[in-house]
This record gives sequence, C-alpha cells and structure tokens, in this order.
Amino acid sequence: MKEKRRYGKAVYFISSNINKFYEVREVLNEFGLSTVLLRLRKVEVQSDSIEEVARRSAELTAKELGLNVVTEDAGLFIKALNGFPGPYSSYVYRTLGNQGILKLMEGVDERDAEFRSAVAFAEPEGEVKVFVGVVKGEIARKIASGRKFGFDPIFVPVGCGGKTFAELDVREKNKVSHRGIAFRKFAEWYTSLLKLKFK
Ligand code: IMP
Repeated sequence: MKEKRRYGKAVYFISSNINKFYEVREVLNEFGLSTVLLRLRKVEVQSDSIEEVARRSAELTAKELGLNVVTEDAGLFIKALNGFPGPYSSYVYRTLGNQGILKLMEGVDERDAEFRSAVAFAEPEGEVKVFVGVVKGEIARKIASGRKFGFDPIFVPVGCGGKTFAELDVREKNKVSHRGIAFRKFAEWYTSLLKLKFK
C-alpha cells in the first residue's frame, strides 16, 4: 500500500520555468503520466556538470519535501566557445542574453552547438537515477521570432528544415529536443517500474 502511494502516475516536477513544464507535460502525457509542477526554484548546486546539478538538486529536494521528485538541468554548449555557456547557461542567458551570444559569435563560421538535458529522479531515501538527452544543431545568425524560451530563438536543431526551436511548436520541438529525449528515457524507465511494482 505504501509503495502504491510512492510510485504514482503523477510525476512531481520541480521547476520555476513554465516553458519547461509545457514541454515535459506533453512528453509524459504520451506515457499516461501526469505532470504536477511544483513551482519551486531548483536548489542551487555549484558544479560544472549538468548531470551533477540535476542529481544533487533532486536528492536534496526529495529529502526536504518527503516526496519522489524530478528535476532537470539543461545547457547550451557552443563548440567554437569551448562548450560555453554550458552549465552556466542560466546566468549567461540572464546577463548576456541571445544578443550577447550572437555578439560573441560575430565573424565565427563554425556554428556547431548542442543542447543537453539531464533529468534526475529521486526518492526521499533512495538512489537517484539520471537520464541525459542531447540535440545537435547550430547557432543562427540572427534572433528568430516565435516562442520566446531562453536560447530557442538562436538554436537551429538538425533535421528541422533550418527552423529555430522558437519556430517549432511544443510537439515538434519535443520530437527532437534534448529535453524530449531525456524525459522519454525517464518515462520509459518509470513506467516499466510501475508495471513491475503493480503487476
Ligand atoms: P536550467 O538551468 O536548466 O534552467 O537552464 C539553463 C538555461 O538554459 C535556461 O535559463 C535557459 O535560458 C536555457 N535553456 C535550457 N533549456 C532550454 C531550451 O530548451 N531552450 C532554450 N533555452 C534553454
């Protein structure tokens, strides 16, 4: 009985970012899971690794709330800038923004970049599982119009006809995105766990 309560079809997602929630909700819904947004600021963990940030913040939040929780840490890694802003994406977005990134990339022909997402699931007293998703693409030459979420207006994923993430709808973005990939991995693992526990 206790286990039934701990592993439910509702997934508690810790984030202060509503755009992430819209994307995650869509992916988890495909697996018959519902997403409950706990609009808390992710516990700030200092690390150069997004996997480590996601893992530690899930661990700490699960303990604090006494709930199974999911957290995500993501970042944009630009090849010509040796992976910058990477784990510092949030700070760089707030300070330099898309305009600042384009300025750094002025006159640079090598525009390869990738988005990475690390999704962590933690129980209050249990092991933490981390799932990673990566999408390759390029930094655009100008800021696109469309949905305004972080670096979406300057990131052109491979295989989407040259459109930026900002010009794709949530479903189209989820098909190829770092977050879509990582959350599908999580959902596959989580739903198989549910089947095992309740069969
Ligand atoms: P966070 O630390 O996981 O919230 O992500 C760091 C920063 O990366 C965010 O503030 C966003 O600006 C940016 N970011 C993360 N994921 C995405 C995305 O899917 N699209 C655009 N920007 C993103």
